[in-house]
Amino acid sequence: MRFELFPLFLGSIHLIKSLPVVDDALRQKREKERNEAIYAQFESIFPALPPKNVPLQPGDYYSLRQIENFMYQLAETHANTTVITVGRSEQNREILGVQLGIDETKPYVVIDAGIHAREWSAIHVGYYLIERYSKLLESKDAMISRFLSHFNLVIVPVLNPDGYIYTRDEVTEPFKHRLWRKNRSTMRCFSRIRCCEGVDLNRNWDLAFTAKTDGVEDPCSDVYPGPKPFSEAETRTYSEWLRSLPKLEAYFTLHSHGQLWLYPYAYAKETYPKSIERAVYVSEKVVEAIYRYNGTRYYHGSPADMLYTSPGSSMDWVQRELNPKFAFTIEVRPLTKEYGFILEKSLLIPASEEIFIGINVVLEESIRFRQFPYQFTGTTQRPRPRVEMLEQKDPVDPSDEKFDEAWMKWIDS
Ligand SMILES: *[C@@H]1O[C@H](CO)[C@@H](O)[C@H](O)[C@H]1NC(C)=O
Ligand SMILES: *[C@@H]1O[C@H](CO)[C@@H](O)[C@H](O)[C@H]1NC(C)=O
Ligand SMILES: *[C@@H]1O[C@H](CO)[C@@H](O)[C@H](O)[C@H]1NC(C)=O
Ligand SMILES: [Zn+2]
Repeated sequence: MRFELFPLFLGSIHLIKSLPVVDDALRQKREKERNEAIYAQFESIFPALPPKNVPLQPGDYYSLRQIENFMYQLAETHANTTVITVGRSEQNREILGVQLGIDETKPYVVIDAGIHAREWSAIHVGYYLIERYSKLLESKDAMISRFLSHFNLVIVPVLNPDGYIYTRDEVTEPFKHRLWRKNRSTMRCFSRIRCCEGVDLNRNWDLAFTAKTDGVEDPCSDVYPGPKPFSEAETRTYSEWLRSLPKLEAYFTLHSHGQLWLYPYAYAKETYPKSIERAVYVSEKVVEAIYRYNGTRYYHGSPADMLYTSPGSSMDWVQRELNPKFAFTIEVRPLTKEYGFILEKSLLIPASEEIFIGINVVLEESIRFRQFPYQFTGTTQRPRPRVEMLEQKDPVDPSDEKFDEAWMKWIDS
């Protein structure tokens, strides 16, 4: 039912499907026209990118170097704030995160952005959150103190640094590769004539992985998952880091675009983890809070139900393997627009603030969930989500079982 809302997604799916039968000259012509149209958009939206040497201020699009300098400077000047390495890219760049909180025995809340290179507005949300939370920490704000008394918070703004650099390509042909999605892995060939670079890192995780897209193993597809799960340095190293954490409290992965607050699973329709009721309950609170804040309408659901099935995604792997209290994929603004990957600068801060609000709702709820006996404060009658095929393979945390019992009693009453 949501498909009409996503002409862009549908458009690209259609393009991918039809690629193998389109001859190369026609494909190149189409691509050139597309690039020209995109370039025209850029000229109006980005009169200029910020100069390379200015320090980062939320509200604009910065280079990887500016983002990293910003992270290091914050860590130097703020207490209990460190820069950590969470992985390594194919071109051997470090993947960096900012960690707030220093008690390594506490559970972790992890927020990442930029697994898809072109999703600059999601990357903006990443560094906006770093700035916002660290300022709050510095001013000894009660909310962040409460959060950090329960867990450490790690924010990784650019999970695919090689891809991000490629989309900026400021040197030769500005924005030629602005809509690049995948990582920058080396060339792979599909038949003798079709060879392409890059892997969709959000199809490369080891959960329901399939090397085929629409029945075809095609490296030129925008959603090419790679030859095998964790074939890519980024997903392999980052998943190892996630696995090394003492416990994962909540996981958020930021994408653009669509204004969606999505819970597992992405790999199949109407397929959910055992904790689905909890995820729906909190998602409803989130979309309500965002709407009350600024009238922005988010929708919630699973990626497979709302968009399309996508095997091998980070959220599914995290949910199944690490079983956090919450795992969400967030598609930031806009809802729909041609070239929705290019969000006007003036909307960057409002688009990020509402995600900040939503994440805070989840973290507050997460803390409440830890405190038994659990008191639900919900007042409205909520429909039970349709759970037609409950996943049986989720590892079970005893405190979760207790929680879910309490929860089931509450919704049945
Ligand atoms: C840093 O963390 C320590 C230990 O959790 C805490 O006692 C201290 O108040 C924190 N400092 C700031 C500025 O938040
Ligand atoms: C991209 O994917 C290729 C092929 O799997 C991999 O070898 C390379 O390391 C990846 N590059 C990045 C930047 O992730
Ligand atoms: C709400 O969003 C609009 C634009 O989307 C923005 O101009 C406004 O400042 C935002 N208001 C708040 C309170 O964030
Ligand atoms: Zn994405």
